[in-house]
Amino acid sequence: MNILVTGGAGYIGSHCCAQLIAAGHRPFILDNFSNAKLAVVDHIERVAGTRPRWLRGDVRDAALVTALLRDEGIEAVIHFVGLKAVGESVQQPLAYYDNNVQGSLVLLQAMRETGVRTLVFSSSATVYSASDRMPLREDAPTSATSPYGRSKLMVEHVLADLAAADPAMSLTALRYFNPVGAHPSGLLGEDPEGPLNNLMPFLAQVAVGRRNQLAVFGNDYPTPDGTGVRDYIHVLDLADGHLAALNHAHGRPGLHVFNLGSGQGHSVLALIAAFGQACGRELPYTIAPRRAGDLAAYWADPAKAERMLGWRVRRSLAEMCADTWHWQSTHPNGYSS
Ligand code: NAD
Ligand code: UD1
Repeated sequence: MNILVTGGAGYIGSHCCAQLIAAGHRPFILDNFSNAKLAVVDHIERVAGTRPRWLRGDVRDAALVTALLRDEGIEAVIHFVGLKAVGESVQQPLAYYDNNVQGSLVLLQAMRETGVRTLVFSSSATVYSASDRMPLREDAPTSATSPYGRSKLMVEHVLADLAAADPAMSLTALRYFNPVGAHPSGLLGEDPEGPLNNLMPFLAQVAVGRRNQLAVFGNDYPTPDGTGVRDYIHVLDLADGHLAALNHAHGRPGLHVFNLGSGQGHSVLALIAAFGQACGRELPYTIAPRRAGDLAAYWADPAKAERMLGWRVRRSLAEMCADTWHWQSTHPNGYSS
């Protein structure tokens, strides 16, 4: 299929493009490179053996998106575009609603105009309400505590309303848990700019010597070792989940919602130990206060995706750490190195 991949030069999108090409699809990347480097396209080509078509442009540019869908014979869209830093979304809510919500509206309108009926959307586990009932199933209550989370939930509501109004559309929301890891080739990985918010990229930078030590945000949670527990998922398993979702969507109109997670929780200390194994030395850390807004523990129930998509994770926590380390140690400064 010819697939428009918005945000396809980003962390998850680039891995997905590599897997799409490997599966015989033809991805077309639309990215404004606000959070990606041009070199990513070369790296996808080196990994996949085929250069993806690409265009620098903004998903909020209605004329551009409409022309692309029409002229490139696009049959389905995977919509990765989004701003994703929770703290920043509190400071700049309008930027988040504009990019994440308005960008999705423009895309959906262009799809309707051009008769492209299949969309796979990057949602997040952040749409689930805080709960002690684990694991999280797709029918668990939703709510959001940040503009980022609300922007994802708003788009899910838009998809539900559109699926009800237009019985020809097939709209899939994939709720990612904690994507980590890198392509095993060492050629694709996460290359964050600005302040680091997430655990795995921080650990990788401690391991490679760009940071002195990790601050563990709280060791007094009601979890086995007191630190936060999350469901980490290898980015290639996540990418494969998109392929499975596309196959499922084909000929199945309506709204489809799936968790993409492993179903297993790991603590911060477990991740530090696993990364230490991968890089061959103990990684230094200190215990710091809890981070505002963090939950103690959550993980996915991935049974629906396994049942309906025939998909489940195949890569272990050790592989997530080994592949992250391979990428970080060979590219200490990301795509600039
Ligand atoms: P990313 O920032 O690496 O990728 C997003 C890409 O979109 C970037 O290449 C950026 O340049 C591009 N972009 C941003 N605004 C654009 C616009 N208006 N027009 C065109 N291109 C634009 O992020 P990612 O980690 O790959 O995440 C992809 C999606 O998955 C996002 O929607 C994010 O909210 C969602 N998600 C990510 C995580 C995670 O931990 N990474 C977890 C849950 C959900
Ligand atoms: C974060 C986002 C969430 C998003 C998810 C995707 C916040 C509040 N939430 O979730 O919306 O869907 O990423 O990956 O940003 N930790 C440390 N030290 C650090 C960094 C993190 O101890 O320097 C801990 C956290 O307290 C948490 C765990 O590591 O227990 C994972 O944190 P992180 O990688 O930021 O992901 P989430 O908070 O789960």
